Amino acid sequence: MASKIAMYEIHKRARERMGRICRVCSVCDGRVCRGEVPGMGGIGTGASFMRNVDALASVKVNMRTLHGVKEADCSISLFGHSLALPVLGAPVAGVKINFQELIGEYELAHAIVGGCLDAGTIGMTGDGGGPNVYQAGIEALHEFRGRAIPVVKPGPNDQIISKFKAAEDVGAIAVGMDVDAAGFVNMRLLGAEAGPKTEKELKKLISSTSLPVIIKGIMTPDEAKLAAECGAAGIVVSNHGGRVLDHTPGVADVLSEVAKPVKGKLIVFADGGVRRGVDVLKCLAMGADAVLVGRPLTIGAFGGGREGVRCVLNEIQSELETAMILTGCASTRDIGPHTITSI
Ligand SMILES: Cc1cc2nc3c(=O)[nH]c(=O)nc-3n(C[C@H](O)[C@H](O)[C@H](O)COP(=O)(O)O)c2cc1C
Repeated sequence: MASKIAMYEIHKRARERMGRICRVCSVCDGRVCRGEVPGMGGIGTGASFMRNVDALASVKVNMRTLHGVKEADCSISLFGHSLALPVLGAPVAGVKINFQELIGEYELAHAIVGGCLDAGTIGMTGDGGGPNVYQAGIEALHEFRGRAIPVVKPGPNDQIISKFKAAEDVGAIAVGMDVDAAGFVNMRLLGAEAGPKTEKELKKLISSTSLPVIIKGIMTPDEAKLAAECGAAGIVVSNHGGRVLDHTPGVADVLSEVAKPVKGKLIVFADGGVRRGVDVLKCLAMGADAVLVGRPLTIGAFGGGREGVRCVLNEIQSELETAMILTGCASTRDIGPHTITSI
């Protein structure tokens, strides 16, 4: 378990190192950094980022303490791997455009993937406007014998296929594509091509690789169904941390209805505003099989490298275990709609 002192030091160091890129607020809710894309914030007014946090906060938890659950097991199984907690590291990349190179691309990917493995889970790596971004992630995967998930941008199809191939070559667990980066301002600023994918294109891309494919950036039930029909192994219910389109609903606003038609058919991930163990509990109660965490792990990486990422995850795990005991859930399978309420 991460001590409060360790977390305090990690945040202090991150604050010093990140400067104006991220103020490392006590609650990371997108208010101070609204409009800071490129950067760590949310696009435009910041409404989509802030709504992620507010929507999760509006979900309330049913406390139950008259039962025999004295310990909680928050492990899950994913793509044949056993994870200590249902939390993965979200892909965070593009250090040149987002972080003014205050951290290296490989350094960030290495810290996230390594810290996730140290905490008993899996990290994802990202992609960006230039070829070096995805490549840095692949190098981190190489270092850790493929035990991570690289996520490609929805660029030209031939490029996606060769990026999937690079992931296969390094022995990745799965691959992903953040389809919500279709009109992303960062890609436009870098002159990189990225656009929506038709059903036909998606089917072709998914069948081009032997790896399970995760489609990241699904916010409606119809697109969840479409991803399943096209052969996706997972979806991430996500608005890209509120970074691509202003005024979307928060992920917790839509998670239950998006998860419903595909639950059990593919793995449902969710991300956006997940900060504490109780947020993980809420997302699982709304139908997610696991969640991704973005900014808090990035802050961990800035403040303490691989060890900083591990500390953040350990803290979330410990909070989740407490939340599970206080809601009478002995295992993640016991978490369901009855665990939460909306008032
Ligand atoms: C600086 C930054 C860079 C990101 N880069 C990527 C990326 O390369 N690929 C991707 O799929 N998502 C990327 N994301 C989005 C995250 O994977 C994730 O969806 C989002 O951060 C989740 O919200 P949270 O930060 O509130 O946890 C990035 C997010 C941030 C803040």
